[in-house]
Amino acid sequence: MEVIVTDTPQLAGNLVATILQRWVRPGGTLGLATGSSPEQTYAELVRRHREEGLSFEGVRAFLLDEYVGLGADHPQSYRQVIQQMLTDQVGLDITGPDGMARDLLAEAAAYEERIREAGGIDVQLLGIGGDGHLGFNEPGSSLNSRTRVKTLTTRTRRDNARFFADDQVPHHVLTQGLATIREARHLVLIATGEGKAAAVAAAVEGPLSAFCPASVLQLHPHVSVVLDRLSAAQLE
Ligand code: F6R
Repeated sequence: MEVIVTDTPQLAGNLVATILQRWVRPGGTLGLATGSSPEQTYAELVRRHREEGLSFEGVRAFLLDEYVGLGADHPQSYRQVIQQMLTDQVGLDITGPDGMARDLLAEAAAYEERIREAGGIDVQLLGIGGDGHLGFNEPGSSLNSRTRVKTLTTRTRRDNARFFADDQVPHHVLTQGLATIREARHLVLIATGEGKAAAVAAAVEGPLSAFCPASVLQLHPHVSVVLDRLSAAQLE
């Protein structure tokens, strides 16, 4: 695992854009997270597309997770969020789990299959929850889990309430499992701000434990953790 500490959140985001850019080529497959952590990275990729001609032609993209019960056109569905932030702006198609599927178990299995058929994910971008969650694998998630339905903790629902005008954060999500995430060929975690410092230290230097799902990064042979000074503050 390489841990890179940058001076500012903006530098962290731009560096992650540079790491991802290696797979922005025909046949490259990106795994994309939502939330606020990757915002600067996506803004920088859009800038490079517009100003430097970075082409997303022939690139495929997969979402890490999706809320159950929000349709693809709901403004807070992760599909809408990623379309607004990145994919619509650079002409990239994205595949995500369908949170409106009638049979969520079947949808979870089908999503795994869609990733497999695409040849797997080259680079998976990740944020980290303040409780150490990865994707929406909350503490206690099996380190060998596959894509499935999870229930969000009160803390995560509270953390994400800022995105919902009416405070109606769904209780359930479909998320890639920790074993699914681990199958990506390169994992890139971005974290900024002091609110992530404890979770980052537990993930990078703590014991491997289902109670800090992000500690599963320690099992992967090719991981980049990109931080700003504040999120790195509790590392030894
Ligand atoms: C989002 C996701 C979550 C977030 C995490 C951090 O697709 O899977 O794990 O990365 O909740 O969220 P932010 O970046 O909003 O602090």
